[in-house]
Amino acid sequence: MTTQLWTPDSWRALPIKQQPEYPDAALVSGVERTLATVPPLVSPEEVRQLKKELARAVTGEAFLLQGGDCAESFAEFSEQNLRHFFRVLIQMTIALMYGAGSPVVKVGRIAGQFAKPRSDGMEKQGDVSLPSYRGDMVNGMDFDDASRAPDPQRLVHAYYQSAATLNFLRSLARSGYAALPRVSKWNMDFVGSSPQGKHFGEIVQRINDCLEFITATGLNLDNMEELSEARFYTSHEALLLNYEAPLVRQDRVDGKYYATSAHMLWIGDRTRDPDEAHVEFLRGVANPIGCKVGPSMQPDVLLRLIDVLNPENESGRLTLISRMGSGKIGEFLPPLVRAVKEAGKNVVWSCDPMHGNTIKSPSGYKTRKFTDILAEVRQFFAIHKAEGTHAGGVHFEMTGQDVTECLGGAQAISDLDLSNRYHTHCDPRLNASQSLELAFLIAETLKKQQG
Ligand code: PEP
Ligand code: CO
Repeated sequence: MTTQLWTPDSWRALPIKQQPEYPDAALVSGVERTLATVPPLVSPEEVRQLKKELARAVTGEAFLLQGGDCAESFAEFSEQNLRHFFRVLIQMTIALMYGAGSPVVKVGRIAGQFAKPRSDGMEKQGDVSLPSYRGDMVNGMDFDDASRAPDPQRLVHAYYQSAATLNFLRSLARSGYAALPRVSKWNMDFVGSSPQGKHFGEIVQRINDCLEFITATGLNLDNMEELSEARFYTSHEALLLNYEAPLVRQDRVDGKYYATSAHMLWIGDRTRDPDEAHVEFLRGVANPIGCKVGPSMQPDVLLRLIDVLNPENESGRLTLISRMGSGKIGEFLPPLVRAVKEAGKNVVWSCDPMHGNTIKSPSGYKTRKFTDILAEVRQFFAIHKAEGTHAGGVHFEMTGQDVTECLGGAQAISDLDLSNRYHTHCDPRLNASQSLELAFLIAETLKKQQG
């Protein structure tokens, strides 16, 4: 397979998993023709810039923060949701910058994260079986025939919502909304209401002292591009290739093919077979790509995948996103890290402490414990320290909203609390407070490792 010529359509000849069964193929072709003519959502210049930034995370000179909804939704699409998400992501960035002592590469799971892989293609309620909900880009959540029928027109809707999302996020990043002095004031709000307030307050105070010192030297923070403007990138799982392939464009500058639906795309843990369609599609686009690495991954398969996805061993091209679970990471991650290191492969190792830690609460909610999430992240750092490799980043399912989906954290969300504001369209997300708390705890770990 890998010796064959790649084209934006070469994946079509290979087996493919996790695709909806569209009743009308002609409608899908029509939608693909539409998507082939619309403007790109991101430019090759931006994509190359992200790759450069990620290359620094390979060697520990930068840290990757990737986060956002498990699944974006068409209904929960508003200025307020985007503002809150962006704000918490920037706050986390500042905590992590302080901890890592290096730049933080900011990548949202946003503006395209609408499609979900499912463990069962069908969902049964009573005697009725219907296609599973696969995300708003595919079908509706309501359990009835009309809603669950996959509708290709939803791909077009997802494109336009992604365009509007990206437009607003760009304006937030550009308009100085992310300027550090103002951001540190937001942190103060959080610190005031947190039980660990005193400790985090000291960190925020130190950050503010640094900023005051810079200002006192006569430098104007608003004029410094790195500080007054937050470079922000988008990413999602490249699951629906009828959406991704028509959005590929060949760049006039370097002649390479770019996926233009997002700056970075990743391959899910269920679709990472080196002989199948998703890997074939992603090997040919020049974007930075991620690949989820779960407990079933074997070192030889991982090395083969790396060779297929990054044959030139280019730094910043490939991010391996480990998602083992807090009880498994200690056994399964070290052999993989060792194999990659011994083979001399340039990758960013990132930690997704969400997908291996999903449980059902006694009251029946799909949830995750804050303590498990933190435990997985801490082990991830310890493993890389022991192996002499770099813990390059983290990958979270999170929201800027005050939801009650994950258990624990400073707010001590309990099983009984989950029903209060359980809004996710798929997996449970960290809320704004839990996200920030986690960022501060990781910042402390990073700081200790440095010192
Ligand atoms: C996800 O990131 O939403 C996801 C489904 O992850 P994974 O492929 O690792 O299970
Ligand atoms: Co998820």
